[in-house]
Amino acid sequence: MGQKLYSGRFTKDISPITTEITQSISYDRQLYAQDLAVSRAHARMLYEKNILSEKELASILKGLELVEREIEEGKLVFKPELEDIHTHIENRLCELIGEDGKKLHTARSRNDQVAADTHLYLLQEARRQKKDLVALLETILDLAEKHKTDLWIAYTHLQVAQPVLLSHYLLSYFWAFHRDLGLLDYVIKEADRCPLGAAAVGGPNYAIEPELTARLLGFQKTYENSLDAVANRDYQLNYHFFASRLCLHVSRLCEDLIIYNSLEFGYVQMDDEITTGSSIMPQKRNPDLAEILRSRSARASANLLSLMMNLKGLPASYNRDLQEDKIYLFDNIKLTSEVILGTKELLEHTRFLPEKVEINLEKGFAQATDIADYLVSHYGLPFRQAHELTANLVRYCEQQGKTLRKLTLEEIQEVWPQQYQFDKELLDLTQSPRRRGGSMSTHPNEVEKQLEKAKQSLIAHL
Ligand code: ARG
Repeated sequence: MGQKLYSGRFTKDISPITTEITQSISYDRQLYAQDLAVSRAHARMLYEKNILSEKELASILKGLELVEREIEEGKLVFKPELEDIHTHIENRLCELIGEDGKKLHTARSRNDQVAADTHLYLLQEARRQKKDLVALLETILDLAEKHKTDLWIAYTHLQVAQPVLLSHYLLSYFWAFHRDLGLLDYVIKEADRCPLGAAAVGGPNYAIEPELTARLLGFQKTYENSLDAVANRDYQLNYHFFASRLCLHVSRLCEDLIIYNSLEFGYVQMDDEITTGSSIMPQKRNPDLAEILRSRSARASANLLSLMMNLKGLPASYNRDLQEDKIYLFDNIKLTSEVILGTKELLEHTRFLPEKVEINLEKGFAQATDIADYLVSHYGLPFRQAHELTANLVRYCEQQGKTLRKLTLEEIQEVWPQQYQFDKELLDLTQSPRRRGGSMSTHPNEVEKQLEKAKQSLIAHL
């Protein structure tokens, strides 16, 4: 068994269940690369401040390289008794290089070390995810471009509301994910600071230079306060909120596509690559990818809540509870990475069938708002009155079991007072988007501008 780094004060070993519960090596081994980077930077800073000699630094750097190789070759044996990745690396370093290795922990504590590792890990992962998220946004843009002038149904309350352009519908998700991208930028900005140099809680008893360590690790800045530096997990909360919100958006998109992919709707068709069969019903093609993506939102939000509950009521500075932050963080980083890639895959393998929405636009009397507005603009009727006249027409259709398109002019004259003429043009669904106005609307000219704006806003993130 490796030597415990703080065994001096203790006379008895901790009990097996305590070992099991308090260990974190089973999950924080993922931080090995960051832990090595943090140790290297720390050693260099100690050397610059004349706390380590040149020879000691060289020997530590050499030793860390050997440890790195052993980990990467799967040769380092992880043992719960050695608690965490920091102890494993340091312990192995001391075994390999002897006395010099014991000097590495000068002027630092695992409290600031784990915080530095986690900052670094989160930053690297967030930057990687940013690229994937931009790629997802590009996929949505391509789809919107492809379906620029196709017709689609806008629902409210999952009831047919109005005809819109399919590109307009797709862009609505673009903007939601675009806000998530903005949030991810904020996550990155907040995480870009180095807590190393706080030591256990009050700063070390050495004239160190945290700014130098931060610079060596590529961080923008350090912390202002050592207590805050070891206690802060806000940068993780930010990430969890980003993950939760992104996954929420994905869950809504998936819900749409699952519904649209059903026999009853049939607006989209999912390719074999993203559907699976049933073990008993031979005809089935289930939208499993979309369903699992939809469910991921539950875990993402649960991880946010777990960290919030973990932090609630903790006394100032470091407490061991904080060790478990990494369970939530690793889980959310992995699941969110998959969600971003999976959503792109889902969209790339879902074919939108705009020709299938027309019948439901008709059945859902989707021209009704246009008709009411026509009465307003043509006859100067107050909107409430126009609304009522149109509703009368819809009710008549329902009673007769027909769509607005099937109405004869005579029937219309029966329902409406004589002075109001009907314009058959109003029934042409393809013209409906052209009647909308204002920069947010689904008017083709506005959607064209929207598309351009979306493209530009993405360039700003590249
Ligand atoms: N494994 C610990 C964690 O992740 C490292 C810090 C331990 N600090 C301590 N004072 N026991 O939080």
